[in-house]
Formats: sequence, structure tokens, C-alpha cells
Amino acid sequence: MKAFIVDKYKKGRALRLGEMPDPVLADHDVLVQIHAAGLNPLDAKIRDGAFKPLLPYRSPFILGHDMAGIVTRIGAKVRRFKVGDAVYARPRDGRVGTLAEAIAIHEDDLALKPKNLTMAEAAAIPLVGLTAWQALVERAGLRKGQKVLIHAGSGGVGTFAIQLAKHLGATVATTTSTANVDLVKSLGADIVIDYKKQEFEQVLSGYDVVLNSLDGDTLQKSLGVLKPGGKLISISGPPDPEFAGQQGLNGFLRLLMRLLSFSIRRKAKGRGISYSFLFMRADGGQLNQITSLIEDGIIRPVMDRVFPFEATNEALAFIETGRSKGKVVVALR
Ligand SMILES: NC(=O)c1ccc[n+]([C@@H]2O[C@H](COP(=O)([O-])OP(=O)(O)OC[C@H]3O[C@@H](n4cnc5c(N)ncnc54)[C@H](OP(=O)(O)O)[C@@H]3O)[C@@H](O)[C@H]2O)c1
Repeated sequence: MKAFIVDKYKKGRALRLGEMPDPVLADHDVLVQIHAAGLNPLDAKIRDGAFKPLLPYRSPFILGHDMAGIVTRIGAKVRRFKVGDAVYARPRDGRVGTLAEAIAIHEDDLALKPKNLTMAEAAAIPLVGLTAWQALVERAGLRKGQKVLIHAGSGGVGTFAIQLAKHLGATVATTTSTANVDLVKSLGADIVIDYKKQEFEQVLSGYDVVLNSLDGDTLQKSLGVLKPGGKLISISGPPDPEFAGQQGLNGFLRLLMRLLSFSIRRKAKGRGISYSFLFMRADGGQLNQITSLIEDGIIRPVMDRVFPFEATNEALAFIETGRSKGKVVVALR
């Protein structure tokens, strides 16, 4: 089958469009013919080798973390999906590779595609949707009446997280540039900080939760926005010792993560705030709940551009500009 392949870890190196063996199906796997694949900054970071200590994929391997498509075969023990189902997923770490004509995915990672979305729209959802869910629902326990600051509201994670936080009943503040103010307002943001004109830490205070996806400077400044008892959740680092433990990392990496997050954990503790790093995981059950929210019209995908599959390297380069509004997807069919 055709696929976009990482032959060698290297910063900025183009993926090779080539032939790879067809996926092998285990008992609990579902074989999916991929119609569209969503791209994420994680794809570029993995290609660059930045995630090698954490996710040691051995080259040559197929890149890609999001997909939507049609089930063409099921493993002997699969009961929840059948041939012909339209599905979507963020396959689990170690088994990624959605930039291809087909993929075998564990049934626990899969959900039925929202009926009201195209394949390209559905492929834009899983990774960012699950990230927002795991940050705001699972980790923060965000409730009606609480206040949340979602950084980078016009990005893939931000556009989903704003809508989810509004659905949970929170007051939502977000940061974005002038050009994207109307977009984040249309998603429900109550307070929009245009970072070209205002410093968010001088405007906001008394927040219950901050979701950070930006740099270390933003992370530090976010402490000042939170009230005692508040939660600072970062998806852009630094990783903390709990994360190292969950991942079963070796002693050296555990120590490294303890050191990397020492400063922010200490400052947070001094203010009675909890700091945690989140690395999202595949979860078909949560994705099913996301399907319902989308079918009920509560959350919609925000699409920047759909590229043809052959233009995957251009699509990845576009993501790397850091300027995309919502999601970037490549279409195979
Ligand atoms: N740990 C995890 O599990 C996890 C999961 C998902 C994502 N992530 C990470 O989270 C980050 C965001 O992911 P994403 O998919 O949302 O990225 P993305 O879609 O590529 O984000 C692009 C958006 O970021 C906005 N942005 C850039 N600089 C900004 C700033 N200083 N202030 C406010 N907005 C800014 C841009 O808006 P403007 O053009 O208006 O600046 C643009 O719309 C990435 O580093 C990604 O790797 C981690």
C-alpha cells in the first residue's frame, strides 16, 4: 500500500511517498481503508526525532495520528464493528501510521464517525478532541460556573477545547491574534485576549483552570491568572514525574522530567496551584462521547485546509508555521 514514510529521523526532512506492506490484523483489530488523515504538530516533532526517548519508532515507519475511513475487515474477536462501518480514531502510541491507504487499529481505540461530518472533517477530530476531553473533563473536572483560560484558542486543540468548555458550563477566556478574534468568539469564547494588543496576565485573575499549549514563558505567567486551588494543565511541557511514572520510563528519564518541571511545580505549589503535564492517549470510549456531542450540534470541527494526499509534506510544512486556524487534513479519496 502507498504511505508516507519516515526513513530517517531528521529535522524538517521530507517524508517519502512509497510502498509499505499491508497491515496485519490481530484478533481485536479492525482494518480500515483510510479516506482522510488529520495532521498534528506531533507528526512533525516525531519526524524530527524530538520524541525518540518517549516513542521510539524504528524507521522506516509510517507517520500520522488521526484518520477517518471505512472498515474493510475485522479480527476474529471484534464484536463492536462490522465491515462497511464509517469510523474514526487516534490509534494508540506504538501503532500509529494514518498517512497510508489502510491501517489496522485496536477496536478499543475506534469509534463510529459522526454522521453529520465528512471524512475530512472527522479526521480532524480525534487527537485534539481527546486531548481537550482528557484535560478539561478527566483531569480538571471542569464544572458549570468555573472559569477556564484556554491558550491558543484558534489552534486545533483550542478550537475544540473552547466548545467543550462552554458545553460544560464554564466561562471561557482565550488568547489569539487579531485575525482570529472573530473565529474564537464564534466558538463561544466569552473573553478574548488579543495577544498582539494585551497581556493576558494583566487582564485575567481568579481562574480555576488554565490549559497551556504554548511556551514556558506563557506557562509561568499563567500561574498569576489562577486562584489558589486552581489547576495548571500543560500539553506542551514540561513533563512531570507523574507522567514519567505512567509511561513506565527509565530512571534517567524520570529524573530528567523531575528536573525539567521542578521550577514550575515549586512555583505552583507556593501559590496553592496544582501543575500537571498531560500527554493524551487513544480512547474509543471517550471518542464515542465526542461523536454524540458532534451529532447533537454542540461541537463542530474547524477546518483550515484540506490538502491532497500527495501534498502531505506541504501540509506538514503548513502546520509547522504555527499559524493554522483549526485543523489541517489530507484527503486520500
Ligand atoms: N500533550 C499532548 O497530548 C498534546 C496534544 C495535542 C497538542 N499538543 C501540543 O499542543 C500544541 C498546540 O497544538 P495544536 O494542534 O492546537 O497546534 P496548532 O493547531 O498548530 O496551533 C496553531 C495555532 O496556535 C496559535 N498560536 C500560536 N502562537 C500563539 C500565541 N503566542 N498565543 C496564542 N495563540 C497562538 C495560532 O494562532 P495565531 O495565528 O492567532 O497566533 C494558531 O491558530 C502543540 O505544541 C502540540 O504539539 C500536545
